[in-house]
Amino acid sequence: MISENFEPEIHTFDVLESTNSQLRKMALEGAKEGTIVIAHSQSMGRGSHNKSWHSPYGGLYFSVLLLPLSPKRATDLTIVAGVALAQAVKQIMPKSADIGVKWPNDCLLNWKKVGGILCENLGARGRGLCVVGIGLNVNVPNSDLESFQDGPFPATSMMLESSGGSYEMESVREILVTKLFTLYRLYHEEGMEPVRYLWEKNCPLMNKRVELRESGWERGGESLGVHSGVVVGLGDGGSLVLEDVRGGRREFFSGVISCYWP
Ligand code: BTN
Repeated sequence: MISENFEPEIHTFDVLESTNSQLRKMALEGAKEGTIVIAHSQSMGRGSHNKSWHSPYGGLYFSVLLLPLSPKRATDLTIVAGVALAQAVKQIMPKSADIGVKWPNDCLLNWKKVGGILCENLGARGRGLCVVGIGLNVNVPNSDLESFQDGPFPATSMMLESSGGSYEMESVREILVTKLFTLYRLYHEEGMEPVRYLWEKNCPLMNKRVELRESGWERGGESLGVHSGVVVGLGDGGSLVLEDVRGGRREFFSGVISCYWP
C-alpha cells in the first residue's frame, strides 16, 4: 500500500517504443508498486483496441505500476486514472468549463479527446500488478493531430484549447501524478464507491443519449451490436450502464461511444 508521503521511483527516457512495454519488462524483473516510467516521445505508443497512440514530443507519456483490489478488478484502475486525469487537467486549466471523462478510458477537453489510458494486467507473473499507461496531449501542435480529426471526439491538446500558449511539462506531470496517487489511496482505503461517484460527477455524457458500438461489432461478433441509450452511470467492474427507451438497463463491458446527442 502506498503511504501519503510516498516518493515514487521514476525512470525517465527520451524515446521509448512504449512506456507500457518498458514498465511491463521492469515489473517482470521485480519493479515495485508505484514505479513510474516516463518518455518524452514514443516510437510505438499503444492505445486501446489495438490502435497505436501517436506520441510526438510535446505530449506527456508515462506508465505506473498499480495494484487492483483483486486480480479481477484491473478495470477499476482505468476508472481511477481517468478521474485523476480529468481532475489534473481541470486544476491546470481552471477556466475551461468542459473537462471530463468518457467511458471507458478517455479524457475530454471541450468535447475533444485530449488524453487516454491503457491499463494492462500482468497477471500472476507480475504479482497481480497492472501497468497503467497515460497519454496526455499537453503541447502537441495541430500539425501532429490532423489525422485524428474524424469521429465525434476529434483529438486536441491542452495548448490548442488554451489562449495562453504552452504548459510546463514537469508541473503538469507532477500535478497528474499527485492526483493519481491520492485517488489510488482512496480506492485502496474505501473501495470503488467514492471513485465511481467522482467519475460520474466528471462525466459530461451522464444522462445523455449515446450510441455504443460493442468491441468486435465490426467483425460481426455474435450477439454484439450497436446500442443506443441514456448513460445512467458506471456498473461494477467499470462497465457502462445504459437505459433504453422502455426503462430497461443494460451493462456494457467493452466498446466505443460512437455518437452522442448533446
Ligand atoms: C487510448 O486512448 O487509446 C489509450 C492511450 C494510452 C496511451 C499511453 S501513452 C503512455 C502509455 N504507453 C503506451 O504505449 N500507451 C500508453
